[in-house]
Amino acid sequence: MRIGIVGYGSVGKALHQLIYEKAWDFKNKYGLVLQVVFVCDSSGCVYKESGISPPETLKVKEAGKSLSSNFRVEPVIDTIKKGLVDVAVECTPANFVDAEPAYTHIIEALRSGSNVITTNKGPMALYMPTILEEAESRGLVVLYSGTVGGGTPFIYFADNALRGNKIISFRGILNGTSNFVLSKVINEGSSIEAAISEAKRLGIAEADPTSDLNGTDSAAKLVILLNHVFEDKYTLKDVEISGIENGIPNVDSSHTVKLIASSTPKPKVSLEVISKNDPLNVDGTYNAVEFNVEELGNVYLIGKGAGGKETAGAVMRDLVELKNRLQVQYFRKSYMRAL
Ligand SMILES: NC(=O)c1ccc[n+]([C@@H]2O[C@H](COP(=O)([O-])OP(=O)(O)OC[C@H]3O[C@@H](n4cnc5c(N)ncnc54)[C@H](OP(=O)(O)O)[C@@H]3O)[C@@H](O)[C@H]2O)c1
Repeated sequence: MRIGIVGYGSVGKALHQLIYEKAWDFKNKYGLVLQVVFVCDSSGCVYKESGISPPETLKVKEAGKSLSSNFRVEPVIDTIKKGLVDVAVECTPANFVDAEPAYTHIIEALRSGSNVITTNKGPMALYMPTILEEAESRGLVVLYSGTVGGGTPFIYFADNALRGNKIISFRGILNGTSNFVLSKVINEGSSIEAAISEAKRLGIAEADPTSDLNGTDSAAKLVILLNHVFEDKYTLKDVEISGIENGIPNVDSSHTVKLIASSTPKPKVSLEVISKNDPLNVDGTYNAVEFNVEELGNVYLIGKGAGGKETAGAVMRDLVELKNRLQVQYFRKSYMRAL
């Protein structure tokens, strides 16, 4: 399987390294031969027909340089449009205003015949129905398990672990940065500002954590989960969003405050006072989702919500899923031809 990595930061670099380390395992376990043939940063794309081994490009990025400083690069969109790969992996920064440049990367990859895996939630939060329709009309696949929960498989859990059961609703904590800040304020009496500074110092919060704290990032993940679980066509504008910017309510010792994303009665992200005994009372950077299932009652999944390596791990999961989907398509086509 020929792979192109668009965006060579924490996730893109970890993915390249992981593909290299797991090559033998993937071949033996899944019959999947993985080869990274291009990697792109904001300066352009490096392409090598025979495959790029990570040390070649990683040491340039680890030295804080752009790919163009050491390699001959092509504009990102030109490389994507050539349709050189079976799958283009989109991991450029999220943008919740117009989803660019990722939206164009994804659409052009599909138009050039490449399947897509994205860890970037911007395009899925704003244009998920359009993207999935574009893929379907071309018989291609778009996978996005790293967009929600980093490495924790909320999407596959809903798909596979709950297969054959009916999910009625779900609610959960989908943003680790805001949960870290809330935990610090409620449990340790920090001020919001001090908690945010600590999150930045520990590398938990980005330089600009606005979308984590105002609820937009949680809302984007809520949209993706809603569309995936219920096959709906929501976008970000359908979610009522508030975050911790207007202050955090005071609570007694048996309660706490969490930024909760809920599917019902209507899609919403807001601060909620919950009991300390509620299973959603997870602290620090953890994410947690409660699925209310017709046959089972409440089922919970808890795990780390972010991290470059964890999110790259989600892409590895998507690569196996992609192979399975392509195999099913292949057998279906062969069967139809034989009829
Ligand atoms: N990190 C996590 O824990 C995590 C978890 C879940 C989802 N995600 C999502 O995954 C995506 C990647 O995250 P990250 O942490 O790896 O981000 P990052 O470290 O900021 O890296 C972003 C990469 O994208 C490149 N880039 C920026 N604009 C570009 C353009 N126009 N064309 C090509 N490349 C471009 C940057 O280039 P330069 O190197 O030249 O700056 C950089 O290599 C984001 O959408 C993020 O929200 C991240």
